[in-house]
Amino acid sequence: MSQFLSKCDASVMGDAAALLLSGGLVAFPTETVYGLGADACNAAAVARIYSAKGRPADHPLIVHVASMGALGDWAADVPAYAIALARDYWPGPMTLVVQRSSFAADFITGGQDTVGVRVPNHPVALGLLEAFARAGGKGVAAPSANRFGNVSPTTAQAVSDELSDYLGISDVILDGGACAVGVESTIIDCTGDVPKILRPGAITQKMIEHSTGLDVIDADGVAIRVSGSLESHYSPIAKVVLDQSPLAGQGFIAMADVESGVGVVRLAAPTTHEEFARVLYSALRAADKQGLETVVVEQPKGEGISIAIRDRLERASRGR
Ligand code: TXA
Ligand code: MG
Repeated sequence: MSQFLSKCDASVMGDAAALLLSGGLVAFPTETVYGLGADACNAAAVARIYSAKGRPADHPLIVHVASMGALGDWAADVPAYAIALARDYWPGPMTLVVQRSSFAADFITGGQDTVGVRVPNHPVALGLLEAFARAGGKGVAAPSANRFGNVSPTTAQAVSDELSDYLGISDVILDGGACAVGVESTIIDCTGDVPKILRPGAITQKMIEHSTGLDVIDADGVAIRVSGSLESHYSPIAKVVLDQSPLAGQGFIAMADVESGVGVVRLAAPTTHEEFARVLYSALRAADKQGLETVVVEQPKGEGISIAIRDRLERASRGR
């Protein structure tokens, strides 16, 4: 059990920051998905994240900080193009993977020489991170606040459904409403001569090229440990089937201009690809709540955020 706090004023965020500093866990909203946070300098607190999630201990965690200035604490070496990206897109749905400093211990990086850092763009996340920094904290390690392999939560209720059995009585879940982006941040490997996309998200290849003036490469075939790139991930209990006609009794997610047949359970009908990303995970969760066996998804076409949507859907369709 954990406490569920929905009025996230300054005093709540100050208390939550103090809880983090004393080794507690705080689930908090970001613009992408909800994260489960711990003090990134506290090995015991970070170990509790792994046990609450049921996640293998060699998977690295993203360190969340209040501002770009803190990147220097965690990184040993930041190329100029990464600084350009941070200037353009932080706070925002982008994680930069850089050479780690001695701050980033093995229990954060999974023993790798790199660390992922992000400044999230959400008032509650930023308020929490600022209060944490004022109290002397250096960064908050936070994976998505779901059990390992499950769909990421985009509401505080979904966090509670996923994790309340695994959190302690003094841990808290901060409720900041539904996440605006809805899929996890773009992860960019900044350790080479050019940026490399490890996980697509709302910050697109075009945006990265525009900011850096460099050609971006993608991560295919690279043996780097990104749990989001395991074959099956982001899966609901229901079987996810892509780009087929739904049958009666099956769930269906598609753009609003696509009709559902008779007896089909329509779970979402977004009118833009941004809305598709925003509602996708809650629609998959709704399928499980309704006990549906199968969800058919007609994938959005084209570039932009739809690349991230198709990435997550392909993984979800591989099952658990
Ligand atoms: O949008 C997001 O990124 C959310 C919110 C809460 O910020 N966080 C998130 O964390 O999705 P998580 O742990 O569920 O996924 C982060 C991914 C993992 O697959 C992890 O392996 C990868 O980032 N990652 C973290 N540090 C890394 C590193 N140094 N090198 C390569 N991959 C890394
Ligand atoms: Mg995750």
